Amino acid sequence: MRAYKAKAVERISLPDREARNRHLREAGYNVFNLDADAVFVDLLTDSGTGTMSDEQWAALMRGDEAYAGSESFRRLQSAVADVMGFERIVPAHQGRGAENVLYGTIISEGDYVPNNTHFDTTRAHVVNSGGEPVDCPVESEAGDPFQGNLDVAAVRDLADEVGAERIPAVVVTITNNSMAGQPVSVENVRAAREVADELDARLVVDACRFAENAYFVRQRELEFDGESVADVAREQLSYADAVVMSGKKDGLANVGGFVGVREDDDELYERTRQRGILYEGFTTYGGMAGRDLEAMAVGLREAVEEAYVESRVEQVAELGELLQEVGAPVRTPTGGHAVYVDAEEFLPSIPRERFPGQALVCELYREGGVRGVELGEFAFPGENRPQLVRLCLPRRTYFRDHLEHVAETFADVAERRGEVSGLEVIDEPEMAELRHFSAELRPVE
Ligand code: F0G
Repeated sequence: MRAYKAKAVERISLPDREARNRHLREAGYNVFNLDADAVFVDLLTDSGTGTMSDEQWAALMRGDEAYAGSESFRRLQSAVADVMGFERIVPAHQGRGAENVLYGTIISEGDYVPNNTHFDTTRAHVVNSGGEPVDCPVESEAGDPFQGNLDVAAVRDLADEVGAERIPAVVVTITNNSMAGQPVSVENVRAAREVADELDARLVVDACRFAENAYFVRQRELEFDGESVADVAREQLSYADAVVMSGKKDGLANVGGFVGVREDDDELYERTRQRGILYEGFTTYGGMAGRDLEAMAVGLREAVEEAYVESRVEQVAELGELLQEVGAPVRTPTGGHAVYVDAEEFLPSIPRERFPGQALVCELYREGGVRGVELGEFAFPGENRPQLVRLCLPRRTYFRDHLEHVAETFADVAERRGEVSGLEVIDEPEMAELRHFSAELRPVE
């Protein structure tokens, strides 16, 4: 049951088939190039695309737009301290701004950074700081409760190979976005803490979806049965030396982010503050307007409310079930923010180098104006990852009939899947890590 009702609405419409074909062609078969008003159900991302609450809209009016010492910043600070347990924050315009501030401070040329799985911007910022990102996902099977976990033994092996002094940080991303949005257990974060201590490295948690992760922990990790999501979230984050946060996810805001630093880490706090000033803005706004700080302060508190987080995660599960009912090869259990479909299984005749995931993304748009995103060979060239398509739900935004439309669209694509052709890249940007945001493709027979 949704724990909210609509107070403001936004019109959406489905362009006719001919227009959808034209839009797709003009977008170079890359849905990042589509105009949003040509999209009917937009499942591209859950990042900054959710619906704010009436309390958040009301808070906007309180935004203190002072350049320095904004009251809104203090309210954000106290929300982060209450909800996430970090007393010190360096604000940033969004998650990747926070990544630049933190990783640019702690990573040097020739370093290695293990992560349960790097999200694409995380990977790019590690590379940009001279480091080598190393994915260390735990090996898991369908049905495992914590498929997002970090393989702690792999981190130790990496340290043996390259030397602990080359590992400035161990990073745990909760939930594990690039690994089908699967959760990470508290036990695993404790183990990551231990290995970070052994290596004399910092433990960083990418906390974008910390509330959704906490909901899974409460549901699946025996120790936390019956606890509140808010308590679980604080417990899980308590092991980290620093967090990077995108307020656009579990901050329930349209923009914003921050780095959280421990009170006793003066050196890191000072260095990240200075880098924050250089790239993001003064230390009490960091690229956000005062009203954005307010929206995030309220959003963070709402994100750990039981009724909210339950309806959020359960809606994603509902989309997963509807898709399974029409035979979509869906990763199960579903993750916290999105349903992931195995495109290689769905389109077995299209080889990896012809981007089966991107082909499926294009067909979902062509068939029903649904926009998803590819997270396979197109987004992560040469990385030998599973060819997944992510259908990502914005928070508090769509209704059951939108989810049904997505499932019906999928069923329609399935009926003519034999005719779906693969794609080739005809134009791409220089940095391979950012290819999928702007490259253009064309169908190949
Ligand atoms: N870390 C993770 C795990 C993310 O999922 C994202 C963004 C970021 C960092 C960067 O945050 O967008 O505020 O700069 N993920 C979005 C997505 C874009 O669609 O998954 P940002």
